[in-house]
Amino acid sequence: MELFGIKTDLVRPGDDLAEAILRGMERAGLRLAEGDVLVVAESAVATAEGGVVDLSHVTPGDRACELAERYDKDAREMELIIRSSDRIIGGIPGVVLTIKDGFLYPNGGIDHSNAPPGHVVLFPRDPGRSAAEVRKRLEEASGKRIGVIVGDSRTHPLRLGCVGVALACDGVVPVEDARGQRDLFGRPLLITRKAVADNLVSAAEVVMGEGDEGIPAVIIRGAPVRLADDGEDMKIPNIPPEECMYIGSLRCGPHPYQGGYDRLIEEATEAIERAYAPYSGFRVGAALLARGGKIYSAANVENASSGAAICAERAAIAKAVSEGEREFEALAVVADSQEPVSPCGICRQNLIEFGDDIKVIMANTRGDAEIATAGELLPRGFKRDHFMD
Ligand code: THU
Repeated sequence: MELFGIKTDLVRPGDDLAEAILRGMERAGLRLAEGDVLVVAESAVATAEGGVVDLSHVTPGDRACELAERYDKDAREMELIIRSSDRIIGGIPGVVLTIKDGFLYPNGGIDHSNAPPGHVVLFPRDPGRSAAEVRKRLEEASGKRIGVIVGDSRTHPLRLGCVGVALACDGVVPVEDARGQRDLFGRPLLITRKAVADNLVSAAEVVMGEGDEGIPAVIIRGAPVRLADDGEDMKIPNIPPEECMYIGSLRCGPHPYQGGYDRLIEEATEAIERAYAPYSGFRVGAALLARGGKIYSAANVENASSGAAICAERAAIAKAVSEGEREFEALAVVADSQEPVSPCGICRQNLIEFGDDIKVIMANTRGDAEIATAGELLPRGFKRDHFMD
């Protein structure tokens, strides 16, 4: 495998990035060959499309001010982070960890590096579209079939130093499935997928550097990768946070709900109609999915003696358990509320009785939904093994 860094003029807002890369190649006497993969730095993509923001033009809102104070950050930058991410998971002084379109980004993907003083560079608007655009232009200019990856750099948990990650690919398959191949001892590899695109970005970053090298793109020749067929899905696959080893073990849910339990949410929504809530008027529906596949739905049942009210979640648990069920996969709870409804403490206690891993989908009738495990909602809850051998 060979790598060729492409030195370009300083990329500025409004520049034509493909043109700048072609000019850089021309100057260095570089030509594309069939099957080459071009890695382009996301900061160059974002800068060229005009994603450079003067912080003095940003007015932070209340939430940005509060979070900036908590995480010791510039409030204007925090405002941009809130706007550009789906959720802020948490943070440490100086950096917040965010989720955007199912992936983790520090500070919502907003960067200080390679930005003029007092400015930041936003996350590229649509890295997939940019990869496709650069590929089209370079293929037209060279007459060769190539792959393009928009790359970024990131640290791994507990590791010092950045490695490459692909934000988007065009013309190249980002993750190859190695399951079914054999290890050195002939055993089949069960869960191994090769993050080919990430590995190529890492290789490119060895050449690119992170600072003032002025190399926003690298040609990789002879990489043993599979170029994508026309129409093939080149989306970079993600895994839900609760199934991710790092995020799942940190128990830092709720996360945005990304599908998988739509039917359960529907049944919980239908159950709202059966609520008996003449006192609060707050009608809640819940649906509990037993491991065997059966769904038990219920609604809240209030009482003239207010403390005797039963929440929808507990009603569903009682209904299922009294039908003989003991093992559950997921519970959905829905109400016509501003935010997704969140189970009360007693319901959380009732749920962890049957397992910390039960998924809880919290939703409202407006279509907002979040997911967490029962254990995330009630960390260190009281369990039978605290008093039974
Ligand atoms: N309620 C539920 O059914 N589930 C929840 O997660 C929150 C609260 C009910 C109990 C009561 O009937 C009403 O909402 C107002 O507290």
